[in-house]
Amino acid sequence: MKRLGVNIDHVATLRQARKTRYPNPMAAAALVEKAGADQITVHLREDRRHIQDDDLRELRKTVSTLLNLEMAAAPDIVNLACEIKPNVVTFVPERRQELTTEGGLHVVKVAEMLSPVVRRLKQSGIEVSLFIEPDLKQIEESVRLGADRVEFHTGRYCEEVDKRDKKGIQDELTHLKQASQFALEKGLSVAAGHGLNYDNIEDLLRQVPEIEEYNIGHSVVSRAIFVGLEQAVKEMKEILETVTANHDSGRPL
Ligand code: PXP
Repeated sequence: MKRLGVNIDHVATLRQARKTRYPNPMAAAALVEKAGADQITVHLREDRRHIQDDDLRELRKTVSTLLNLEMAAAPDIVNLACEIKPNVVTFVPERRQELTTEGGLHVVKVAEMLSPVVRRLKQSGIEVSLFIEPDLKQIEESVRLGADRVEFHTGRYCEEVDKRDKKGIQDELTHLKQASQFALEKGLSVAAGHGLNYDNIEDLLRQVPEIEEYNIGHSVVSRAIFVGLEQAVKEMKEILETVTANHDSGRPL
């Protein structure tokens, strides 16, 4: 069974746009969990453009599934993570001007800086995930760093789907499959996310059944505008369950 983590950052984006008290990310997290999600994911950005420190503190008290905190390895945020103790910390690269996380973390380049931080979080009892490109060298370095899991950046795959480039799509699916198999062999758990939506996730589920967890935000929160948050999450969860069940049964797809 695939796990679904729902990223609720954009509930806070809407709130921050007017600096109001609503919509409340904790209320959103409760609905997301009620709809069957397995994890609440939030990204505490250095510029605090959406999720705030207090949201994180509140979410820690209210989330009853798992709390996955995406963050850069900035010292103040690392301190906060050790205090709040989310179940999982996912290290992501961060550039202030970017619209969203535009690529995976180059763990080979930042290994020296990241190594003590990973150790510290693990000593605090927090699972560590690294958000990387589906690249074998990055996976090997993730193992060396002592990560528990990797999350593959699916942005390139999603871009190829948008371009309707069949070869490009297939190439990206192949990268994701090879990387997932390699990571599993190395003892890592495998997650994926970024840019996934109700249409482009199906091929990924069919062709890369090795991926155990998906973290999806923008498309789910967008769909919620039309059908409500619970329904939006249920629809995504149903795709995960249906496509996985069909794959497991060996039925032709
Ligand atoms: N996973 C990680 C590590 C991310 O940084 C993000 C974006 O914050 C997501 C998943 C969710 O991406 P999207 O909002 O495009 O679904």
